[in-house]
Amino acid sequence: MKSYLCLLWASSILGAPVNKQRQKVLLISFDGFRWDYDHDVDTPNLDKMAKDGVKAPYVTPPYLTITSPSHFTLLTGRYVENHGVIHNMWFNTTTKLKKPYYQTQFVNEWWDNGTLPIWITAQRQGLKAGSLHFPGTASSYQGENAMKKEVEPGLYNYKNETAWRVNTDKVMGWLRHEDLDFVSLYFGEPDGVGHKYGPDSPQRQEMVKQVDRTVGYIRHSAEQHGLTDLLNIIITADHGMSTVVRKRPDDITLYKIPGFSFSDISFYLLDYGPSGMLLPKPGKLEKVYNTLKGVHPHLHVYKKEEMPKHLHFAKNDRILPIILWADPGYLINHLPVQFNKGEHGFDNQEMDMKVFFRAVGPAFRKNLVVEPFESVNIYPLMCHILGIQPEVNDGHLNATKCMLVPKTTTSKGVDLRQNAFTGLAAVTGFLAVVFIVAMSYKIFKKKSKSERGGNMDEIF
Ligand SMILES: *[C@@H]1O[C@H](CO)[C@@H](O)[C@H](O)[C@H]1NC(C)=O
Ligand SMILES: *[C@@H]1O[C@H](CO)[C@@H](O)[C@H](O)[C@H]1NC(C)=O
Ligand SMILES: *[C@@H]1O[C@H](CO)[C@@H](O)[C@H](O)[C@H]1NC(C)=O
Ligand SMILES: *[C@@H]1O[C@H](CO)[C@@H](O)[C@H](O)[C@H]1NC(C)=O
Ligand SMILES: [Zn+2]
Repeated sequence: MKSYLCLLWASSILGAPVNKQRQKVLLISFDGFRWDYDHDVDTPNLDKMAKDGVKAPYVTPPYLTITSPSHFTLLTGRYVENHGVIHNMWFNTTTKLKKPYYQTQFVNEWWDNGTLPIWITAQRQGLKAGSLHFPGTASSYQGENAMKKEVEPGLYNYKNETAWRVNTDKVMGWLRHEDLDFVSLYFGEPDGVGHKYGPDSPQRQEMVKQVDRTVGYIRHSAEQHGLTDLLNIIITADHGMSTVVRKRPDDITLYKIPGFSFSDISFYLLDYGPSGMLLPKPGKLEKVYNTLKGVHPHLHVYKKEEMPKHLHFAKNDRILPIILWADPGYLINHLPVQFNKGEHGFDNQEMDMKVFFRAVGPAFRKNLVVEPFESVNIYPLMCHILGIQPEVNDGHLNATKCMLVPKTTTSKGVDLRQNAFTGLAAVTGFLAVVFIVAMSYKIFKKKSKSERGGNMDEIF
């Protein structure tokens, strides 16, 4: 029934700005907020937001499911292989230098690799944009910066709820008093507690309560700033979190693998949760590949050009020739070191990697649950609401536009033609739905026979 409604609405002509005044967008990310974190915690503010707006049961982030790559997908609508921010870490395979996540924020060439984030696109089309702490904020793009920007200080206390409120009020001030049209806002939790204590821990549950209080505060602050009728708030995340087992006897530690030698490797990225990349020395690629392929039942080994298509993680010079990733529960290490109880970076088909999604504001319908979608589709949605022409991207508005309220026009002539079109589209939509529902049911029945709780993306 829900998808019926969704498609029906989607068939009508949609537009964001109902009033003459341009609508605004605030994109918020709570790092590592898994899709189901509100299932075992009381979250009155998140529930209220769903009631007043739109909710997706989950959203699929891009692969590699780590912070900088996934956030840059939110800002650009491009898969990781296309935007170039392929890792949290900058590295140079010649000098062997690596920079950790925070330092990489300041490596301009890492971020500015040919794809423009929405701030710059909006500004080029006459809008005003800002960003607070969102990954990618520190960089300039083709020489241009977000007009208002605040970069996280080093050694930042991610958990400080008072600071969360101060930052919230700050961006509301930008939107109100400096008339910014688009702002991205980032909070570093619940990723921290998810890593340290694990996604099933009481500490994670407590942090979700803090997120919920903050969501209440954000909406309250928007109201206090007189933004309720203008501002659309989208809240999502970059990746989920999965429990990993410490010191398991069958852990994946490369130096213990028979026949594998680091002397065949020119450069590697390992000890980064469940994912890794290797650059073998000249002439050693086949040897390294054959040594690793199939050596462990939970280790996936791929040559770059053979990567599964759905990961969209191959076609970029920065990606190294051999890519490794582990199944949930496992990590890929160089030496046996493991401190965290939770990790991300797994295949984005894994349910533990999916993220949550809520949206509320004048552009969004109310009390609507939409089908899951990929996070590349958030970018075209935001561009549409802002009324700007998007850059080339990997998303489609048709995946997200069913969230939007139908456009109301003032000209009667347009209305008539629109109604005729809507009527026709509705009939077509209805027939399409009958077909899709029937097919989905068939597929679902088939799938549930062979595997339970598998990949739901194929159904929706
Ligand atoms: C890596 O460093 C080498 C040596 O300094 C330099 O020539 C090369 O351009 C660098 N590569 C990248 C991708 O930055
Ligand atoms: C992207 O970065 C790579 C090096 O990592 C460089 O060779 C390439 O020219 C860059 N492309 C653009 C458009 O900046
Ligand atoms: C939390 O943030 C507030 C506001 O920025 C600051 O005054 C306070 O000192 C911070 N507390 C801690 C424990 O970091
Ligand atoms: C959206 O449109 C694109 C291109 O026209 C198409 O490939 C895709 O399947 C459509 N997606 C949905 C959800 O309709
Ligand atoms: Zn993250």
